[in-house]
Amino acid sequence: MTWAARKLLLRCFRNWELLDLELAEGLTVLLGPNATGKTNVVEALQLMTAGRSFRNPAPETLVKHGSDEALVVLSVNQDDVAAEIKLRVSGGRRRVYEINGTPVRSASDVQGRLSSVVFTPDDLNMIKRASDVRRAGVDEVGEQVSKAYSATKKEYGRLLRQRNVLLKTDGDADLIDVATEQLVRSGARLTASRARLAERIAHLAVGLYAEISGGENLEIRFVPSWERAGLDEEVDPSSEESTSCALVESLALVATEERARGTSLVGPHRDDLAFTIEGRDARDFASQGQQRSIALAWKLAEVEVMEEITHQRPLLLLDDVMSELDEGRRNRLAATVQGGIQTVMTTTNLEYFDESIIRKASIVDLGNVPS
Ligand SMILES: Nc1ncnc2c1ncn2[C@@H]1O[C@H](COP(=O)(O)OP(=O)(O)O)[C@@H](O)[C@H]1O
Ligand SMILES: [Mg+2]
Repeated sequence: MTWAARKLLLRCFRNWELLDLELAEGLTVLLGPNATGKTNVVEALQLMTAGRSFRNPAPETLVKHGSDEALVVLSVNQDDVAAEIKLRVSGGRRRVYEINGTPVRSASDVQGRLSSVVFTPDDLNMIKRASDVRRAGVDEVGEQVSKAYSATKKEYGRLLRQRNVLLKTDGDADLIDVATEQLVRSGARLTASRARLAERIAHLAVGLYAEISGGENLEIRFVPSWERAGLDEEVDPSSEESTSCALVESLALVATEERARGTSLVGPHRDDLAFTIEGRDARDFASQGQQRSIALAWKLAEVEVMEEITHQRPLLLLDDVMSELDEGRRNRLAATVQGGIQTVMTTTNLEYFDESIIRKASIVDLGNVPS
């Protein structure tokens, strides 16, 4: 099955009163000075494909100031059959999706159709940023390729919030025990799925990094929450069974502290990834260029893993990243784009692009679109 995005319509979405955008089969370049609304377009495309956006917007922020309702329509082709995904957001209300005119229950129903990989300047700092960024990098793939992954993630989030309320309000010990049991069951499933997926992405990223860096040795390790909580045992995080035991043991270790601090200290919400180059922690020792190479390798690996699992290429959304990369890395990214993956890329300046790319691209000057 092959999906392709054909057309994006925005009405009263963010700064756009009206935008009617044709998307090329290959590369579409969105050109415009700062604050034209380029990132807003990328956000809309991600909402229509991944069912979420890297900005994690509150629904009302999507609606154009002074308007009542935002509307986004993405026209796609599924093996040459036209389909339409629609998103409506009314002031203060939830996001409501429709697929071919039929309302769907939640954003997760949008996932698993045309999927996407987004690459923003923030991702370039993934090594140095807080661990939630690295977890999100894995989960965005997982949620799009597997309904089960997405359901477990959602369930875990709910159970974690419930348990934290009990801890914070000094709740009944029996109730906390029940909440702990539920958290462990769901958390073991999430950590194990996440660790397996992370290993798969990491394996490819290591190879891509060697290629980009000219042979440097990158290692990527999944760091489960119990390790961070001080459980001194070798546990394979990709096994649900051993993960479950490790969570139980480490929760016992931190029980008093959890009560004191009123929050859950072990579980998938504290998993992380660690990167080392030639045996040295990339967080402390990698140059900015090396960090950017890791981020690029990781993103390209995400694309490949997604393609392996879904047997179709995701839509690649590149927000302002070309200007942040040096020539070598830019060329590596350009090679992927030219390898025939549908791509939407934003930039303030076409000078960052090789002429061979520009020649084949559809260039849309967003600074000159009537809106
Ligand atoms: N809900 C909204 N209503 C009106 N304008 C908005 C809304 N949300 C964001 N904006 C505006 O959209 C503008 C363009 O944002 P952005 O897409 O980030 O620009 P670019 O990526 O082209 O630099 C910003 O000036 C921002 O203030
Ligand atoms: Mg921007």
